Amino acid sequence: MTTTIREGQYAPGQATHDLVVVPFHHPQGCRSYLAVDPDSRRAIAIDPHLDLVDKLEERVRREGWTVAFVLDTHTHADHPSGSAELAARLASVRVAHELARHRGVALHPSDGQELPLGRQRARVFHAPGHTPDHLVVELGGALFSGDTLLIGAVARTDFLGGDAGQLYDTLQRLIRLLPAETVLYPGHDYEGRTRSSLADEQRSNPWLAIREREAFARELSRGAPPRPANMDDLLRLNREGTPIPTTVPAVELVARLGGGGAASVIDVRTGAEYESEHVDGSRWVPLGELVERADEIRAVPAPRMLLCRTGARASVARRELEALGISGLTVIEGGLEALRTAGLATVRGRARMSLERQVRIAAGSLVLAGVALGALVHPALFGLSGAVGAGLVFAGVTDWCGMGLLLARMPWNKARGPLSQIPSGGCAAAPAAGGCSASAPRDPQLPQ
Ligand SMILES: [Fe+2]
Repeated sequence: MTTTIREGQYAPGQATHDLVVVPFHHPQGCRSYLAVDPDSRRAIAIDPHLDLVDKLEERVRREGWTVAFVLDTHTHADHPSGSAELAARLASVRVAHELARHRGVALHPSDGQELPLGRQRARVFHAPGHTPDHLVVELGGALFSGDTLLIGAVARTDFLGGDAGQLYDTLQRLIRLLPAETVLYPGHDYEGRTRSSLADEQRSNPWLAIREREAFARELSRGAPPRPANMDDLLRLNREGTPIPTTVPAVELVARLGGGGAASVIDVRTGAEYESEHVDGSRWVPLGELVERADEIRAVPAPRMLLCRTGARASVARRELEALGISGLTVIEGGLEALRTAGLATVRGRARMSLERQVRIAAGSLVLAGVALGALVHPALFGLSGAVGAGLVFAGVTDWCGMGLLLARMPWNKARGPLSQIPSGGCAAAPAAGGCSASAPRDPQLPQ
């Protein structure tokens, strides 16, 4: 049966035997997919990212599809899986390899097993290498390769029991098994590309040009990129369903920073505060810019560690970001002050007054002014002091301080140095921060 892939498009009543593929792109470089048989409207969801669950569900309900299966290609160590959440919302069967030992998975397919989707059949193959529990899915002329074959790259094999020799065997098997025109949909792409084909990869992917297993394994084991930071939290979520903790003690965070965790620290204080002192390698996104820079935050590998001076503003940031559908947010307990007490050496610049002190000074000055004006000018002006008092009570109860947000926008709270000196998030940082792609082969003797 020849299948036409209609990416993202669904038109009821059109020709049969088509496959509809809907890719979902996450700013972290992750790819989630819906693959749908338009005749039966039965679908499989592949590698849903937790941040994308709402979008997937919305598309499924809008189109009237039935997601029969939700499949994790492997145990993800770099991002939170949304499989459990999506399967629960859509009453789908969860699928993963038996070695994954994910709680709540009902179907562990054998190598080559077919999952029925109306007239289509999703063939699932065991594809060890990146991890021992890796699966790939072939469906209607498309290969959902997870983290085996990526566009112009292959997956890394340096953690979670990965094996470079096994990855070589897996890649050779897939090339032998599947037609060259097979469309490739990878589990990651850090450069915004959406699809390729086996033929294109055989032509241009430097890793597929390596013809010897030993040379492939030797090259892949060389110069591994940094491990995904905070991997343990992600594994507890992805394997056991344990939610990512909403707070982390400062002492624990200091230990994580030694393992490359700084790239996941998001500092929400003002530019002036950040300039005067910050955690080396952290990212700066002030509280007032969270909404407009939400994609930048999504690109930060989860769990995203939110930092302020004491933890109060970071808690506000967590609530605001969760309302935007961003998951995996952890507040650093006690903020920068606790990190300092825990022995962390911070990067220091010219000292600037903290926002909390500015709020205290501003509120106190307004109360004093109200009392003085009430006594000297008109009793109605006592109301100014009352209004400030009411505002402080409101801020204490709701943890939302309008005066603080207003002061944060004042010119003296802006960073004075060029912002390029302050590390900021972005999709390009994802691989360096521990994505699933291997670095390019470097041996000059090998074909490039
Ligand atoms: Fe992976």
